[in-house]
Order: sequence, then structure tokens, then C-alpha cells
Amino acid sequence: MERIRIVGGRPLEGTVRISGAKNASLPDVCAALLTDGQVVLHNVPEVRDIRTMGRVLADLGAAVDFRVGGTVAIQAGRITSVEATYDLVKTMRASVLVLGPLVARAGRARVSLPGGCAIGARPIDLHLRALEKMGAKIHVESGYVEARAERLRGAEVAFDMVTVTGTENVMMAASLAEGETVIRKAAQEPEIEDLAALLVAMGAKIEGAGSPTIRIRGVEKLGGAEHTVIPDRIETGTFIGACAVAGGDIEVRNCQPAHLRPVIEKLRETGIRIEEGPNNMRVRAPRTLRASDVTTEPHPGFPTDMQAQYMALMTQAAGTSTITETIFENRYMHVGELQRMGANIRVDGRKAVVTGHTPLSGAQVMATDLRASACLLLAALAARGETIVDRIYHLDRGYYRIDEKLRGIGADIERVGQGGRRATDAVVSAEPTA
Ligand code: EPU
Repeated sequence: MERIRIVGGRPLEGTVRISGAKNASLPDVCAALLTDGQVVLHNVPEVRDIRTMGRVLADLGAAVDFRVGGTVAIQAGRITSVEATYDLVKTMRASVLVLGPLVARAGRARVSLPGGCAIGARPIDLHLRALEKMGAKIHVESGYVEARAERLRGAEVAFDMVTVTGTENVMMAASLAEGETVIRKAAQEPEIEDLAALLVAMGAKIEGAGSPTIRIRGVEKLGGAEHTVIPDRIETGTFIGACAVAGGDIEVRNCQPAHLRPVIEKLRETGIRIEEGPNNMRVRAPRTLRASDVTTEPHPGFPTDMQAQYMALMTQAAGTSTITETIFENRYMHVGELQRMGANIRVDGRKAVVTGHTPLSGAQVMATDLRASACLLLAALAARGETIVDRIYHLDRGYYRIDEKLRGIGADIERVGQGGRRATDAVVSAEPTA
């Protein structure tokens, strides 16, 4: 199993290029199930979760062609199976995104329940209730959801709470349903707008994506399309954070500052200087970071996917900050590892109080989920001495070659095999877990 070795204390300088958004690419790839035409996606990050989704689609009968340079061509000429098995779904919750497209196109889906995951219970009840409202008959048996519908019909879907993949599932299903669907309390994340742009290019009739109310008029058939995925806003935020804790001055290219409004505002409060261009940013670390409280919220609030990285920053900030996680009930697994590196953090339910400016020292730490892994990299960049991050397959699920990118801007970081030997293949071979 591979690990990452980091020696902290080196400021970052230079330019880093952001990859396409994982959380936009995942639903975009699934949207290809809605048509027998070819869907060509550009700027797709070749991370493990995308590869896994490729396998899920291939199992359903789609031809999935990963080309060099982040292009993926998918053609689901015929759906030959409607089953997403436990073996694949357990490795990646986002597999549930095939549910809506399969019922809408093939009239049937059998998808394993994702079960709990490291960051919380994360049920899919809202997805199922919405599809039921659209006329699907749903059975949950032996750990599988079975959904059937001759043809889905448009409905009023009012979510009780904001759900990103739930909104995406309904948007995809409604695109081929009979009549109009109105989604209320829809997720407003930029990834929702990206999916809508792709669906519209395929022939769907969608209005309001990016607002709390989305209207979708179903059509008989969707066609192929070509689409470029938005840049990854969480990867962008992670690099800003890296520069802030390590010190330095970097340029972040191929990003979309407008998608990071709440993150940029919060990071500026901590003293980081961020100059925005249309598709790039210059980031300069302050001499001393300032503590600032944050609460995670659905977009346009501060994203839960940046909470762990923000906590690494707060361990180095002058003052005390309170971080409140409102989206997931168990997203503080990085805390124990940060404490082992010398951080002063107290967790009380959904709140974490970080007393900043404690020197961190390198240690052997373990990644527990994707964003927790990113948090540990940031802490390691700030720490004195050597940190070894274990279980980095979590990192490879969602960050494209983050070690190479960080090395490119001056970090002392390398990927090593079990025996400490430098790994040659940067995109790893370890199996993912839930
Ligand atoms: N929820 C329910 N029932 C449902 C659906 C959601 O109770 O049917 C709850 C969840 O348990 C959670 C909250 O609603 O407490 C919000 O979950 P949401 O459904 O929005 O999360 P998701 O769609 O499963 C996506 C991202 C996550 C990101 C969240 C929140 C993808 C593939 N995943 O998950 O990304 O944290 O939205 O923004 O888009 C990551 O990239 O590291 C990651 C975990």
C-alpha cells in the first residue's frame, strides 16, 4: 500500500493547474445513460472515483472510453443490465446516481444500498421518495433498491433537506419523464448547474438550475452531446489552503473563482491575500493567519468538503476558532490525527474548537476519507519534520496527482511504497474502501 511522505516547512511558489470537478464529472458520466447517443466529456479528472463510475456504467452495457487529456466518451447504445452491485456501490456512494437515469431510460433499476460511510450514515431516502412521487414503484430488499416505472411522470418534488446527488438524480430522471417536474429546496451547488448544462446540450428542458427551484419539462428522447466539466472548486480551495499553511505565493490556474465565493470570503478573513482573475487566482500567504469561525452549509454557504482543510489552517492561526459541521454528523475523523501532530482541538458534538498557533510536528498519520486526507497533507506542510500519510487511496479517489502538483510548486513530498521506496506510478494501485 502506498503512502505519502512530506517534509514540512517549505514555502510554495509557482503555478498549479486545477483539474475538472470530480463531483460534477460523476453525475455527468451517469447522464450518458439517458441516451443511446455518444456523450463526450472534457476536463474529467482521472481520479479513482471516476474510474469506478466508468466500471459501473460498463457493467450496465455502456462503452466507456477514457482518452488522454481528460476526455471520456460514453455510449450507452443499449442498456444490457440494470444492476449496480454491492461490490461497486460499497466503494463509492455516488454510484446511486445511476438510479434515476436507469429508471427513466430502461424502466427498471436494481441498485445496492450504499450503507453507512466514514463521514456519516448518509441515507438515500430522499432520492427514493422523490422517484416514488414520479411514479416509480420502489422495493428495498436484501440490501438492494429495486425501482420500476413504465414511464416516470413529472411531479412536485419538495426536498426536506438539501441533497446534492438527490437533486441530480431527480433532474436526470425528470428529463425523460412525462410532463413537468418542479424541484423545491434544490441543491444550488455549481455541480448542479454543470449537470443542467450537459442535460440541456442533450436536449433536456431545464430552468432554474443553481437556484432553489428547478423546473424540468420531460422530453421523449435525449441525444448525444459534448461538454466541458467545470474546474474542481474543492481542489482549488485545497491549494489555497496549502499555500496559506506552508507560506508562499502561488498562482492557481484553470479555476472558477465565482464558484468559490464563500471559501474566498472566509479565507480572506484569515488574512490570505487572494487576487482573482477570470480563470485564475494569485494567492499570497500572510505572515500570520488569523482565527475565524466557520459553519458548513449547503451552497452558497461554506462547503463541508473544505471543513477538514480549513481546520488544518486554523491550527496555525492566531486565536481560537469554532468550526461547526452541519452537513455530516461524523466528519471530524481528521481531528485525532491532527492532535497527534500537536494540534489543540476540542470536539463537542458538531462543534470543534481549535486553539491555534500550536507548532505541529511530523508524525505517522492515517487518512480516513478523502477530505480528511487533504487536511493531513496541509498539516504536514506546516509541520516540523517528516510526516507519513498512510491509506492515501482515499486521496486518490478525488484529487488528481496532488502529490505531483504540490511538488511542482516546491513542496517536499513524495509517494512511497510500503518499504519506503519511491513509487513510480503516481496514480496508484490500491483498492478503495467505503
Ligand atoms: N441525506 C439524507 N437522505 C438522503 C440524502 C441525503 O438524509 O436521501 C442527508 C445526508 O446524510 C447528509 C445531507 O443530507 O447529512 C446532505 O447530503 P447530500 O445528499 O447533499 O450529499 P451527497 O449528495 O451524498 C455530495 C458530494 C459530497 C459532499 C455533499 C455535500 C458528490 C458525489 N458528493 O454528496 O462530496 O460532501 O454532497 O456537499 O457530489 C466529497 O467530495 O468529499 C464528498 C463527500
